[in-house]
Amino acid sequence: MAGETITSFYAHDHDQLDGYFKNFQTLKRKNYPQAKENFKKFKSGLQRHIAWEEEILFPLFEEKTGMTDGGPTFVMREEHRQIKALLEEVHKKVQRQNPESDQEEQQLWDVLKQHNHKEEAILYPAIDHVASDEEREAVFEKMKTIQSGPDSP
Ligand SMILES: [Fe+2]
Ligand SMILES: [Fe+2]
Repeated sequence: MAGETITSFYAHDHDQLDGYFKNFQTLKRKNYPQAKENFKKFKSGLQRHIAWEEEILFPLFEEKTGMTDGGPTFVMREEHRQIKALLEEVHKKVQRQNPESDQEEQQLWDVLKQHNHKEEAILYPAIDHVASDEEREAVFEKMKTIQSGPDSP
C-alpha cells in the first residue's frame, strides 16, 4: 500500500461499508437472504474497522500527540460504543429475519455519518500529518493481523 494515506484508505473503507448497509436496506423487503449477506459484510467489516482504529490507529495518534482523555480519540471511542450498541439492535432483528428495523437503522446511520465525517475531515488528516511514512506503513502492516470482527454473524 505504498503511497496510500490513512485518510484515503479509511475514507474508502467507510464508503465500502456504507454500500453494504445501503444494499441491505434496499433488499430487505425484496430478498431477505441477499439483504442478510450484505448486513453480515457490513457488520463484520465495521467491527474490523473499529478494531483497526481503536487498537492501531488511535494509539499512534495518542502516542504522537500526548492527547488521550478528553482528546478527539476519546470522543471517537465513545461514539464507537454507541455505534456498536445500535448495530446490535439492528442485528437482533436481522437474526429473526424481521425487516422492521427502519428506526434503529436510521439512528445508526445518523450516528455513523457524523462520526465518519469527523474522522475524515479532522482525525485522519491529523494522523497523516503527525505520522512518518514508516509509521504509516507500520499501521497498514499491523492491520493485516486483524482480519474480521470479533463476533461476525
Ligand atoms: Fe471510527
Ligand atoms: Fe472510521
